[in-house]
Amino acid sequence: MISKKMESMLNEQMKNEFFSAYFYLAMAAWFSSKNLNGFANWYRIQAQEERDHATMIMDYTLRVGANAEFLTIEAPDANFASPMDIFEKTLEHEQKVTAMINDLMGAAIDERDFKTQQFLQWYVSEQVEEEENATGLIEKLRIAGNSEAGILYMDAEAATRVYTPAVQATT
Ligand code: FEO
Repeated sequence: MISKKMESMLNEQMKNEFFSAYFYLAMAAWFSSKNLNGFANWYRIQAQEERDHATMIMDYTLRVGANAEFLTIEAPDANFASPMDIFEKTLEHEQKVTAMINDLMGAAIDERDFKTQQFLQWYVSEQVEEEENATGLIEKLRIAGNSEAGILYMDAEAATRVYTPAVQATT
């Protein structure tokens, strides 16, 4: 079992991960509408990964005998100005998610809930990668002088991203 507080925090995070999927899908749609199909692919895969992050939380709550709740997912702000705007919003969003994961881990530590700490460790590591990826996009486009040629080069590179299901050691 886990505490009611931890159950509620995990359910909130499951919703937040689904929101991330929704947000990144909106970005994928924006890139598709601009014929930047490589970035559309990259963000579509990003959304798939976020759904994995959400369902892994659902699976964990069920395994420890807690309830999985399906909370309302708010609509993302889908007004994007440019690829750089999207990359900056991605980094900003991931920094918020990192803070949420840190809050969850902090609560698990306070409660001496060791199994949830172990479960959350995967998310702590994942957030390092998420922020690194978003920072990489921003820096690369800055190096390219935020130019159209740079965007097209990066779009071609983003087209090569393939989906790999998130895997977590669960025992
Ligand atoms: Fe689920 Fe982008 O972190």
